[in-house]
Amino acid sequence: MARLGSAESANKRVCVITGSSSGIGAATAVLYAQQGWDVCVNFSRDAARAEGVAEECRGHGARVLVAPADVAQDEQCTALAAAVTGHFGRCDVLVNSAGTTKFVDLADLEGLSAADFQRIYAVNVIGAYQMIRALVPLLRLNPGAGIVNVSSIAALLGGGSSLAYIASKGALNALTVGLARALGPDIRVNAVAPGMVDSPWLRNGLGVDGFATRRQSYERESALASIVTPVDVAQTIYWLGAGAAKTTGEVHVVDGGRRVGRA
Ligand SMILES: NC(=O)c1ccc[n+]([C@@H]2O[C@H](COP(=O)([O-])OP(=O)(O)OC[C@H]3O[C@@H](n4cnc5c(N)ncnc54)[C@H](OP(=O)(O)O)[C@@H]3O)[C@@H](O)[C@H]2O)c1
Repeated sequence: MARLGSAESANKRVCVITGSSSGIGAATAVLYAQQGWDVCVNFSRDAARAEGVAEECRGHGARVLVAPADVAQDEQCTALAAAVTGHFGRCDVLVNSAGTTKFVDLADLEGLSAADFQRIYAVNVIGAYQMIRALVPLLRLNPGAGIVNVSSIAALLGGGSSLAYIASKGALNALTVGLARALGPDIRVNAVAPGMVDSPWLRNGLGVDGFATRRQSYERESALASIVTPVDVAQTIYWLGAGAAKTTGEVHVVDGGRRVGRA
């Protein structure tokens, strides 16, 4: 793809993706870059991994800002927004993909402490809120601006890595609807709810054997007999962020038909 000159690149739309050094966030950054956008790649720990994603995006002609920030820390969210303003001077889409969990069997009520809940909420719910609050002034400048929160079918099925995680994604869905009302008509706010995704998240969380076993049962129970790839999710995020002009306050499921089930 030919690179744009400086006047053209100044007009390119910008997408900020939290948690984009890996998995769904990384696939989303690359897809936006492929579609001609500039992107901000965010991470909280692994700078080298983020730089690898940034290089891939640059290969598609994107200008890239690599910005470290723990979204649970409000001052780091405002610093990230200031960096985006300084670097690009605009933001058209914010994708909140940063997330965390603790893997605890749902029946093990003693396995989750208040501190676990607070840590998971701090990233999955409050982190998304803080990023939105920090970037709303910049988003408002662009008609058709969009926010996409990465939720999970865990909130819809009541199943997932832990009760704290399930509850946090339920809260994120409710936040999505409330913010859609609050930020309309200027900004659309939607969520995507992936099913089982083939990313480091579950491979690390479940281990090799656990991942393979879960994958088998997921495929058996899903209408499309398939788990989901980060690119599958990124494609829906792209549509919700860059298109979907009349859609707001929705939670869009991408789960290979797991919720529908199999006859
Ligand atoms: N994988 C699944 O099956 C699945 C299913 C449904 C929903 N989801 C949701 O999808 C989202 C992304 O998951 P994934 O599968 O892409 O996981 P992943 O491959 O493990 O990526 C997680 C990303 O989040 C970043 N991150 C974690 N904590 C952060 C924080 N406090 N501040 C900023 N960045 C942070 C990580 O970067 P650092 O390591 O550098 O911090 C990494 O870039 C999550 O919200 C998750 O709940 C995943």
